[in-house]
Amino acid sequence: MRPKVVAGNWKMNGGLSFVQDYIETFKSSWEALSLGQYSDLSIVLIPPAILIPDVKASIEQSGLNILLAGQNVSAYESGAYTGETSALMLKDFSCSASLVGHSERRSLFGDTDEVIIKKTKQLLSNGLEVMLCLGESLDEREKGLAENVVRSQLESVLGALSLQECSSLSLAYEPVWAIGTGKTATPEEAQSMHAFIRRVVSAKSEELAEKIVILYGGSVNAANAECLFGQKDIDGALVGGASLKPDEFAEICNQSGKS
Ligand code: PGA
Repeated sequence: MRPKVVAGNWKMNGGLSFVQDYIETFKSSWEALSLGQYSDLSIVLIPPAILIPDVKASIEQSGLNILLAGQNVSAYESGAYTGETSALMLKDFSCSASLVGHSERRSLFGDTDEVIIKKTKQLLSNGLEVMLCLGESLDEREKGLAENVVRSQLESVLGALSLQECSSLSLAYEPVWAIGTGKTATPEEAQSMHAFIRRVVSAKSEELAEKIVILYGGSVNAANAECLFGQKDIDGALVGGASLKPDEFAEICNQSGKS
């Protein structure tokens, strides 16, 4: 059995007072839903880098078992790279992982496959895990290219890593046309791509393909989570907008735990 993971990507939202209110409300929902009962469920918060210390402190104070991850990481180790956050800095502040290759990074900030490999290697060499995001645009899907695009994004990273390094990888399939649009892939569309992704991974290793966690992302909310989590190759969710509402995010975690 693969572990279940629900990760909340706050993107560039939140602030100091938001953090405190958020963790307090999340704790009440956690208790109401008894989220602690789901021993195979990992809950991850992914705040903007500047808020990580405060989220870490609030989580510690709450006593909740929540993991922290970065939204992005520098491709470089340290030095004269103004504005960047290194893998070691994320680790210092208790992040266990970082997103890499989110579609917003790819389309707005020029994160090419080459940059994504460098960032992945930075995380791995500093002992962090990698949540690699994959996904096609609407245009690519309409042209029948969805699988080719996702395969090429995935193979470029798998090809650059040893099998042992791949064991620190989880994947998030996020069709770009479903991110922040309210349009979710149907559970069948998502399942079909997740199964395809597992087949691509199996070319590297059958065992890895069986073990690797693949999250779905793109307008996941409390109303559609259950159907998505009912699919056999969907191991959890990467949640954007709905993760900003702590009670709704807790309900999505609950749906994953129950699945
Ligand atoms: P969304 O974002 O849930 O708001 O669509 C998902 C993501 O970009 O990670």
